[in-house]
Amino acid sequence: MTRAALRKTVVMVGMMGAGKTAVGKALSAKLGVPFLDSDAEIEAAANMSIPEIFSRDGEAFFREKESMVIARLLEGEPCVLSTGGGAFLASANRRMISERGVSVWLKADIGVLWNRVRHKDSRPLLRTPDPRATLRTLYEARVPIYAEADLTVISDAETSIEQMADRVIDALR
Ligand code: S3P
Repeated sequence: MTRAALRKTVVMVGMMGAGKTAVGKALSAKLGVPFLDSDAEIEAAANMSIPEIFSRDGEAFFREKESMVIARLLEGEPCVLSTGGGAFLASANRRMISERGVSVWLKADIGVLWNRVRHKDSRPLLRTPDPRATLRTLYEARVPIYAEADLTVISDAETSIEQMADRVIDALR
């Protein structure tokens, strides 16, 4: 799989902590295509962090920006696009992604996800009295939707970022 062979943007989807950004970056380097990240684009355009956007303008505003940014990024040349964990939940986003891209669900179990997000304060949806329970609730509601992705790649604690990127490349063949 090389840049010339990549006809569609590879869209990384899945829960926070699944490794979408880290694996997406490694994948883009291997494929020789640009890496884009919808959260980073939203933050740059607003000149605010995701938690600041959530607390100032609310989640609905963030979701609107997220859909607009994803639509814009999908119009460009094929690349690797990492999306925020909630992006694939909106049916309009799923439709756009399936028309213009190939979706890859980075599937991790709840224990792995919790270990990766527990010490970070960058996820506004986990700013609850019991973030672990919140993560589980989100996970259970979202898994059936992520399962609609074109491809599924397992993200576990034993596999390196590079190996996961190689798994995505194998799945794309
Ligand atoms: C969200 C995940 C975050 C970010 C926002 C909402 C979600 O992205 O978009 O905090 O709904 O799961 P990551 O999946 O990159 O953490």
